[in-house]
Amino acid sequence: MGKVIAIDGPSGAGKGTIAKLLADKLGFSYLDTGALYRAIAFALREKGIQSEDSDDKILNALRGITVTFKDGRVFLKEDSEATPPIPPLSRGGERGGGRDISEKIRTTEIGHYSSVFSARKVIRDFLLNIQQEAALQSDIVAEGRDMTTVVFPNAWRKIYLDASLSERARRRYLQLKDKGLDITESDARTDVVERDKRDSSRDISPLRKADDAILIDSTAMTVAEVLENILYLIKAGK
Ligand code: DC
Repeated sequence: MGKVIAIDGPSGAGKGTIAKLLADKLGFSYLDTGALYRAIAFALREKGIQSEDSDDKILNALRGITVTFKDGRVFLKEDSEATPPIPPLSRGGERGGGRDISEKIRTTEIGHYSSVFSARKVIRDFLLNIQQEAALQSDIVAEGRDMTTVVFPNAWRKIYLDASLSERARRRYLQLKDKGLDITESDARTDVVERDKRDSSRDISPLRKADDAILIDSTAMTVAEVLENILYLIKAGK
């Protein structure tokens, strides 16, 4: 297994931006696990699956789905025949293929459904191996909600990235606006509040700070400052 820098935190804390920069700086691969949950939610919605459907029905739908995360983009392949899941960090086109759904999964609607579906054990189990296998392929910076607690409990470095609710709502608003979405700041806040509540109160793998994760509150920090801080901690062996 390669080195894993595991980053958890609530929506809008800046995990994606920081994880990507950190991975570039260190020559690690970047794994956006939220994108995997979003891609699964997108695929299941397309298949007409509801979040309260039976485990069997969900599992059956999942069997034909392959999600690939390559160079920051997300691809969805659906086979009519059942295929085993493959690791998500595709390189050099040797794996993957399928539809590029990178933009489609960034809507607030898919954000909502990814949070709803992610509370189902059958879906978390399906993605668990896929995420862990990514660490067999290379050193990774993995970000999400349960990287430090469940997926990579023995990660090389563990960080919990947080920020105030207002700041996270503001960042999410600017991010969605930048992607061309028609959204108000109050919509963004509602989205962040609802998802945080669901993601941290679910029974399985809820979002929480691992005891041995280092807390960074980025509310009043620039991206460069957060990055510098984390690089310092990593070098210091924290
Ligand atoms: O990070 P994000 O906003 O793209 O994540 C979308 C949803 O996926 C989030 O609301 C909860 C779920 N998720 C999860 O349950 N566990 C993870 N490791 C990552 C995301």
